[in-house]
Amino acid sequence: MHYKINTYGCQMNVHESERLAKSLEKLGFTSTEDNNFDIIVFNTCCIRDTAEQKILGHIGKLKKIKRANPKLIIAIVGCMSGQKGKAEELLKKYPYIDIILGANNLESLENAIINLQQKHQKTICVPTDEKPEVIENIEYTRTSMPNAWVNIMYGCNNFCTYCIVPYVRGRERSRKPQSIIAECKSLIENGYKEITLLGQNVNSYGNDFADKSIDFAGLLERLAQIEGDHRIRFMTSHPKDLNEKVIDIIAKYDTLCKNIHLPIQSGSNNILKAMNRHYTREKYLEIVSKIREKMPHCGITTDIMVGFPNESEQDFEDTMDIVNTVRFSGAFTYIYSPRKGTPASEMEQIPYEIKSNRIQRLIKLQNQITKDLSKNYEGNVYRVLVEDIKDNGQLCGRTDCGRLVTFSGDKSLIGSFKNVFITRSQSASLFGTITEDK
Ligand code: 5AD
Ligand code: SF4
Repeated sequence: MHYKINTYGCQMNVHESERLAKSLEKLGFTSTEDNNFDIIVFNTCCIRDTAEQKILGHIGKLKKIKRANPKLIIAIVGCMSGQKGKAEELLKKYPYIDIILGANNLESLENAIINLQQKHQKTICVPTDEKPEVIENIEYTRTSMPNAWVNIMYGCNNFCTYCIVPYVRGRERSRKPQSIIAECKSLIENGYKEITLLGQNVNSYGNDFADKSIDFAGLLERLAQIEGDHRIRFMTSHPKDLNEKVIDIIAKYDTLCKNIHLPIQSGSNNILKAMNRHYTREKYLEIVSKIREKMPHCGITTDIMVGFPNESEQDFEDTMDIVNTVRFSGAFTYIYSPRKGTPASEMEQIPYEIKSNRIQRLIKLQNQITKDLSKNYEGNVYRVLVEDIKDNGQLCGRTDCGRLVTFSGDKSLIGSFKNVFITRSQSASLFGTITEDK
């Protein structure tokens, strides 16, 4: 019996698919990349309509496969499935789906399969509780050695007016610090070299503990002190919550990567207010200055959205201006997509042509900045974690500040830290050669 998991969306989903893989393996399924699967799981995303449409197209294609193989199990899980009314809509349109689970209901996968196999019963399990209990000791089938993801918290309390996440993932719940530390220690002992801590807003870690015994800075410090040759990253930070204490801890420990993902969304104060982001462009610039004062080479990446309701040309120019001022080492840029049930979807929308024109201008600007910044790396040596081998036989890995580097070397080097001399750059890509000099 074989399984295949198609993952859409963010790193949280990629990590949760490792959990789904473990559940399936416990039931005796083995992984396949071919089309000989007996169960297919779609771990879905609904952050933008484009994501959803793509997934729906893929579910549509399963009709023929199911007709040829009626025993095939089809499970649609994750964020898209958990939207209000979505399960009914999916079943109506695609009656051949067997299992639907929300992002907070993934633990039900094993029982859902057993019910289907033994009682021919479909399972539809979508969120009813906004703050389900945090499950510790989840097992994962990890496939990303030497990198590992560790969830430190679930859900989000922020309700940015454009965002569907709080509706499908529920309220913030932090994992116990002892469990996180034990998991990280065990990963490091087992040879993992880079741990990425995951949470929708890692800076509010611990806010939900009644005794306020630990915050994100405290957790980071405890993790930074774990012995071994490894490093730690985290995402995502919210500008309203990233404080000086956290910046100081990152600066203090070599094991903490000098790399902060700090979504700005917009450079216009009007738009930030309408987005319910709780910071201004001035406050954002202040945080960036503090980060750079303490860590001049810290990579700062961001998410930016264009075309939010009522975004004027001046609002957009404010975004272009802040992108020019900060000079992000990388930016994920998006066209605002109305999400049903969110406040912004009820606001006055702006025409697609304007959105499309703005995103092109923004991408052009950021590409130029990325290209210019890449040049600064040339001629210098960086410590790189060798992470993978590409199809062309070249090795690749990341610098501490998060830049991707490609270089020649033997596959056996994967999982080790190497000093790499950067010989040339091309847009966001850096190329180099391994050197022992530093
Ligand atoms: N439309 C477009 N982009 C969105 N994001 C979140 N919601 C939407 C939406 N409705 C973007 C934000 C967020 C990133 C993960 O996705 O920039 O930081
Ligand atoms: Fe969405 Fe805002 Fe929460 Fe991020 S902080 S998940 S953008 S609501």
